[in-house]
Amino acid sequence: MAVAALAADAARKLFLQTPLSFSSVRPRNFPHFRSFASLRPRRPNVFSPTVAAAAGGSSKSTAKKKSKSIPEKVDSESLKRRTRSVKEFDEEAALRFGGTTSHIPVMLGEVLEVFTSIPLRSFVDCTLGGAGHSCSMIQAHPEMQVYVGIDVDPVAHEKGQAMINSLLHDDLGGPISNLKAYTFVKNFSNIHHVINEIDNNLLIKGVDGIMMDLGMSSMQVNNAERGFSVLNDGPLDMRMNPKASLTAEDILNTWPEVELGRILRDYGEESNWYTLQNKIVKARLTGGLHSTRQLVNLIQNTSSRTRGGRQGWIKTATRVFQALRIAVNDELNTLESSLKSCFNCLGHGGRLAVISFHSLEDRIVKKTFLNIIESSSINKDDDEEERCLDSREIDGNNKEEEEGWIKQRVRGINGEILTKRPITPTEEEEKLNRRSRSAKLRVIQKF
Ligand SMILES: C[S@@+](CC[C@H](N)C(=O)[O-])C[C@H]1O[C@@H](n2cnc3c(N)ncnc32)[C@H](O)[C@@H]1O
Repeated sequence: MAVAALAADAARKLFLQTPLSFSSVRPRNFPHFRSFASLRPRRPNVFSPTVAAAAGGSSKSTAKKKSKSIPEKVDSESLKRRTRSVKEFDEEAALRFGGTTSHIPVMLGEVLEVFTSIPLRSFVDCTLGGAGHSCSMIQAHPEMQVYVGIDVDPVAHEKGQAMINSLLHDDLGGPISNLKAYTFVKNFSNIHHVINEIDNNLLIKGVDGIMMDLGMSSMQVNNAERGFSVLNDGPLDMRMNPKASLTAEDILNTWPEVELGRILRDYGEESNWYTLQNKIVKARLTGGLHSTRQLVNLIQNTSSRTRGGRQGWIKTATRVFQALRIAVNDELNTLESSLKSCFNCLGHGGRLAVISFHSLEDRIVKKTFLNIIESSSINKDDDEEERCLDSREIDGNNKEEEEGWIKQRVRGINGEILTKRPITPTEEEEKLNRRSRSAKLRVIQKF
């Protein structure tokens, strides 16, 4: 029996070290893949932006050590470094363009406030979604002459476009505004190209306001067929752009295990990533994973042994789904370059407001903003950045023309960060809309 047990253990270890599905199959959408033996963790370039425009229309011990280095307290740490909004929450306004079946725009009052003091002749919403933010911004700024809405998801684009159209037209379809509104099915990384396509002069002059409300909309999560939902069974898709070739299913069933582990660890910040990586790779032997329910079952079976209860596996599943979604849509790589493009598109005095929903995104927004205002701040670690922010901070309350929502600014060569600490939603908003609980708003202004 002992020999049999040893043999079984040896077989298990060999299994864990063996590239199960890679010996004869080249993983789909994994361009850097050559041979498993030569594989190093690398960032696959997997996301092709939508082109259709619709204008007007490792070893185990290392693994264990690494898993300990992913502290869940990152979030509670970053919560301390925030400013909770003191703006009175306007529930009626939040629900006006959203509602229960659609998407409720997050931190709407705070976003509107960011742009109140500047004449907003031109505005770009990089994440149109259900157009809740866009419609409210258009209503709040009758001086607006050009509006641009961008969404990489054609379904979201259609919904957002319909909302904008009904706002700008009467019941008979006649225009009730002179605003020139353009919407595009594009990745926001193409903002420069999009604005240039509308009017090169607008690009030369620069736009007055840009916003990004990152992540998924409720419409996307609630549609099980998109594969974003932990609780509803659907295909393992998770593409925001349905024309993109890479799906979560491809990653789970064909990516090399070290890459799979890397995304669970780095994009999901999942401490149990190594066990999950092995389980997912093992599932390939019996046909692989093809539905969100199968993936959730695997997570449930893995989590129940380590952490008890529904909350345990739901949190793990949320982190795993986050990791897959980020990888499928190449979200983090796109974000940094897109923030820089957005800033480049701003005119003098123009503002860029960004709402992020997890610490990885927020870190990129914070670092990139610092980088933008003064390139010497590049490559600083988190503590250095905090010191850098502290040393160059200007106390907002000392400025004569100060706007109430601005607490502390950070001035650079090219612009000013207007939110030294990110602004987070009011408790009232968090109660109404659970999705808002992780939201952080950061704002930068160009000189
Ligand atoms: C949180 S929703 C925006 C909701 C919107 N602010 C509202 O009030 O209804 C985010 C939207 O951004 C889109 N999106 C995510 N990443 C994108 C990208 N890289 N380029 C363009 N759109 C993107 C998603 O498809 C989704 O519709």
